[in-house]
Amino acid sequence: MIGVIGGTGLSEPKFLSDVQKQQVSTPFDQQKVQILTGSLQGKTVAFLARHGRGHKVPPHRVNYRANLWALHSIGVRAVIGVNAVGGIHPETGPGKLAVPDQIIDYSWGREHTYFADGLDAVTHIDFTHPYDARLRKLLIDAAQGRALWPQGVYGCTQGPRLESGAEVQRLLRDGCDMVGMTGMPEAALARELGLAYACLALSVNWAAGLSDELITMDAIGQVLSTGMTDVLDVLQKAIVAFD
Ligand code: HPA
Repeated sequence: MIGVIGGTGLSEPKFLSDVQKQQVSTPFDQQKVQILTGSLQGKTVAFLARHGRGHKVPPHRVNYRANLWALHSIGVRAVIGVNAVGGIHPETGPGKLAVPDQIIDYSWGREHTYFADGLDAVTHIDFTHPYDARLRKLLIDAAQGRALWPQGVYGCTQGPRLESGAEVQRLLRDGCDMVGMTGMPEAALARELGLAYACLALSVNWAAGLSDELITMDAIGQVLSTGMTDVLDVLQKAIVAFD
């Protein structure tokens, strides 16, 4: 089964029919995770709202381990994470879609691994290619003619505040093409569980200092509401093509 983790602007699976709700118990802080399963053209899809119901959990407080574990435990084997980002590369301006191929993790203090306690042996996963190639291709193909940048380095910052201008300049020097707050540890935890994982990113603003405008929640909200139509279109085509 394929799963979708919806981020800011995508907290309900309106694209699914016959939706069933379930609360999955997890061993991570006794967190119960709500997963909605439904169908899209005969395919069963699991949907999870990353920030919880009502979009109340900030990026640094998301229980990433519980979320991924819950999806895996109900039989999900591939996950598309939808993430709002700030654009750094010229191809990633507000409203643009991207499927990044690399990650740099600047987040800190998050529970970021399943391989910590009660281990038989120390375990290191390979993370050379953080995203699943097949799932990325599925998303890129699903965009067909639509403007979607099929590459890019996702820099994951801690949030919830946005970056300073100098921080964005450092991200740029490091080779980051976009900046978000939720790409990690999600991608690494998926890999630890053996889940295929890819990110569909929607740019909702120019990263701090790259435009003359200050970044406001209002402006982000406006880009989100129009850009989500493109996200949903690509997402649905990719899901239908998934086997
Ligand atoms: N920075 C970090 N995360 C974000 C941004 C940003 O500018 N926009 C949306 N998510």
